[in-house]
Amino acid sequence: MTPQDQLKQKVAQAAIAHVVPDTIIGVGTGSTANFFIDELAKIKGTIEGAVASSEATAQRLKAHGIPVFDLNSVAEISVYIDGADEADPSLHLVKGGGGALTREKIVLAVAKKFVCIADDSKKVAVLGKFPLPIEVIPMARSYVAREIFKRFGGEPVLRDGFTTDNGNVILDVHGLKITDPVAMENELNGIVGVVTNGLFAVRKADVFLCGTANGVETITA
Ligand code: A5P
Repeated sequence: MTPQDQLKQKVAQAAIAHVVPDTIIGVGTGSTANFFIDELAKIKGTIEGAVASSEATAQRLKAHGIPVFDLNSVAEISVYIDGADEADPSLHLVKGGGGALTREKIVLAVAKKFVCIADDSKKVAVLGKFPLPIEVIPMARSYVAREIFKRFGGEPVLRDGFTTDNGNVILDVHGLKITDPVAMENELNGIVGVVTNGLFAVRKADVFLCGTANGVETITA
């Protein structure tokens, strides 16, 4: 295991303390979330089950024998646990490197609490070095790219050969300096053809479990 994977595993283990017994929890997508699913499997008898933020996560949960619920049959999720591509000091995030941003945002919307788990390479002063993923209805791709360039000056690049679980495409926007993530999240979502964008700022993380060489740091905004 690489040193970075060891940090991911440590935060995944630390996240188990945030799992609320006898409830349904939300589970994110990506390599850190995968470590969490593997830890969750060890205590699967203590929860009712999980709602998955992607097909890949649903498959991994099921492979461990963890019951997976359709979100439409669930009124409440106690906690949502997921990774991130970037986190600023206020716990605004960039997510969607794995392309699951829309389902992640939907599952999060139903959750009472958001625990973000990541290694310390994801900590930044200002969001935007990681290209911001935007899920777009395929026919709107060129229009949305032009609008983004006009409004924000970034460089939108189509994620090659990638289709989301919802049948859409992703534009990764390079070169943004995101000083007002809440405003940018709202404005991007107002462009016709955008399904959602990878800024998790309107609804940000409540707790950030950050894996460092000196152990897991618990950050709250
Ligand atoms: C998935 O779409 C993303 O939002 C992930 O949460 C994010 O990319 C972090 O992934 P890793 O844990 O693999 O770095």
